[in-house]
Amino acid sequence: MESIASAPGKIILFGEHAVVYDQPAIAVAIDKKATISIKESSNDFTTLKSYDLDFEVILNTQNKTYELVTGKPGIIRYILEVLYQVHDHSPIDIILSTDFPVGSGLGSSAAVTVATLAALYGFHNKKFSKKTLAHNAHFIEKKVQGMASPLDTSISTYAGLVYLGKDKKISRINTDFKSTFIVGYTSRKRSTSKIVNQVSQLKNRYPDIINSIMETMGSLTEEAKFAILKNDKDKIGELMNINQGLLDSIGVNTIELSRMIYRARKYGASGSKITGAGGGGSMIAYCPIRSGEVYHSLKRYDNGIKVNISDEGIILKVRE
Ligand code: MEV
Repeated sequence: MESIASAPGKIILFGEHAVVYDQPAIAVAIDKKATISIKESSNDFTTLKSYDLDFEVILNTQNKTYELVTGKPGIIRYILEVLYQVHDHSPIDIILSTDFPVGSGLGSSAAVTVATLAALYGFHNKKFSKKTLAHNAHFIEKKVQGMASPLDTSISTYAGLVYLGKDKKISRINTDFKSTFIVGYTSRKRSTSKIVNQVSQLKNRYPDIINSIMETMGSLTEEAKFAILKNDKDKIGELMNINQGLLDSIGVNTIELSRMIYRARKYGASGSKITGAGGGGSMIAYCPIRSGEVYHSLKRYDNGIKVNISDEGIILKVRE
């Protein structure tokens, strides 16, 4: 028997970091996925292999440790935590595939967490709703990272264009808003939890200033929601640029991200900003027009991919 689940990555359009402090955020699922396949093992070991990420490890699911067989592992802590919480520790073979960069702010940890949970539920023949899946995946992310909003795990479960309100309620924004986004990503490794922690320390040092920046990000996201509903492209772009200025002010920008953000604007992006935690990771350029020029301008010096909004959330297939 094989249980296969795939879940999309995401880009945050507005409100990253502020969302950790109960401000709203808007994110979309992208047409790039993480896929997890689980089969019974033919021996006594639980293995995790990724041909895309070029590593193989033997997992100890009872004490959440692993032994490296080949390559340089990534994203294993999330998979180990899911196995620890949900699996009966019988030996299984897991294969992880991804068609987007891992650890780059595109929601790879949430996509992998959601896909691993769903694949395990399928493997153990356990029925689940999307609500339970998103809820349990958020619990895993929090366990691994310390602090995490439910935004990434919700997007990976439900897909589409999602608004997370101050009350932590998730709702789909139903519009025909469509655009190509160009994602520029850096090869600099960074951890979301470390960056979220740095912002929290900055907030402890300057509570009044950082609180008001977070509140401003929140108002900006509310304004952006209306701009998206009206498909007001100029306003969406302008608000993205303002959001970028605020992200810079809380210390999550880098030289590489800045270079890509300004180049994208020069070559025709309507707006561009960091997406996700920053400190490395990725930027997005909103390109309702001239996406080709922006893509080629980024690819000249950096890594870039074109992404579109996806409506395809979690998909589970179980084959006997
Ligand atoms: C990371 O993709 C987004 C952050 O806002 C953290 C979170 O929401 O958990 C930086």
